[in-house]
Amino acid sequence: MNSFRRHRRLRQSGAIRSMVRETRLDVTDLIAPLFVVEGENVREEVPSMPGVFHFSVDRLEEELSELVDLGIPAVIVFGVPSKKDAVGSEAYSEQGIVQRAVRRIKELHPDLCVIADTCLCQYTDHGHCGVVKDGVIVNDESLELLARTAVSQARAGADIIAPSNMMDGFVRAIRQGLDEAGFEYTPILSYAVKYASSFYGPFREAAHSAPQFGDRRSYQMDPANAREALREAASDVEEGADLLMVKPGLAYMDIICRVRERFDLPIVAYNVSGEYAMVKAAAERGWIDERGVVMELLTGMKRAGADLILTYHAKDAARWLRGGI
Ligand code: PBG
Ligand code: ZN
Repeated sequence: MNSFRRHRRLRQSGAIRSMVRETRLDVTDLIAPLFVVEGENVREEVPSMPGVFHFSVDRLEEELSELVDLGIPAVIVFGVPSKKDAVGSEAYSEQGIVQRAVRRIKELHPDLCVIADTCLCQYTDHGHCGVVKDGVIVNDESLELLARTAVSQARAGADIIAPSNMMDGFVRAIRQGLDEAGFEYTPILSYAVKYASSFYGPFREAAHSAPQFGDRRSYQMDPANAREALREAASDVEEGADLLMVKPGLAYMDIICRVRERFDLPIVAYNVSGEYAMVKAAAERGWIDERGVVMELLTGMKRAGADLILTYHAKDAARWLRGGI
């Protein structure tokens, strides 16, 4: 008589495996990033991110139709302005690149959820996410500009404001700004737990947002810290965040899991540019099976506790979920 447990019984057919499957990835879990640039008739591939493009506002239409046809419910807009200055003026200008893109997207697809990334680094000539004084990234003076940016994005029609700057108190400042401007119902997706990561390289190339001196370690988190992530998330929850982001994803699945256990808010995992570039590079060489690897990674993030995944693989994943190639 066999007294041991036969785990393999539930793995005997595709039907049974799908019945006992604990985690399911769905197209409605996905958020697709969009890089928008100034100019006309631009659709240019980002060299380190094959399959990801820079679009000018007039070329967004085709990409958006594709996303909507695939059933992807949300996009996050990253602006690449043509002018930068010390205080990131283009971030909160009514005619800024994000503001114009958001208006256009909402005009074309009112039901598509448009998330605006709220930061200053693409817009400042020094490339930092806040105001710089004597070589220091000053916190409280940055808050006013971030709140102004958020309000102008909401005015343009953004459905969700996603601040990624990592200044202290940014959620409170933005919440207050939005409320005062009459946007009490615009949710804040806080990049609550954002690490000072080497996985952002391709994004910085794509967004022209690399810091011109120093690095971001005085405001982004130390990759070695987990308890600190809970403190970061706790203060954002207290300040009024509606959704919490953990970024990057792959090397931080334990953080997704711990934030999930502690907080009730929806959690977004950001599967960042460097993670995407690694998969694409290995797949191009035929060293890994791209579809298998991507689905396993995205499923892993959901299994860790993410409700939503912001990923450059969004379109491919949506196609694969449909059973397409
Ligand atoms: C900037 C910002 C970064 C990313 C999103 N917003 C990079 C950074 O902090 O330098 C990274 C996204 C990615 O790598 O895909 N606030
Ligand atoms: Zn930034």
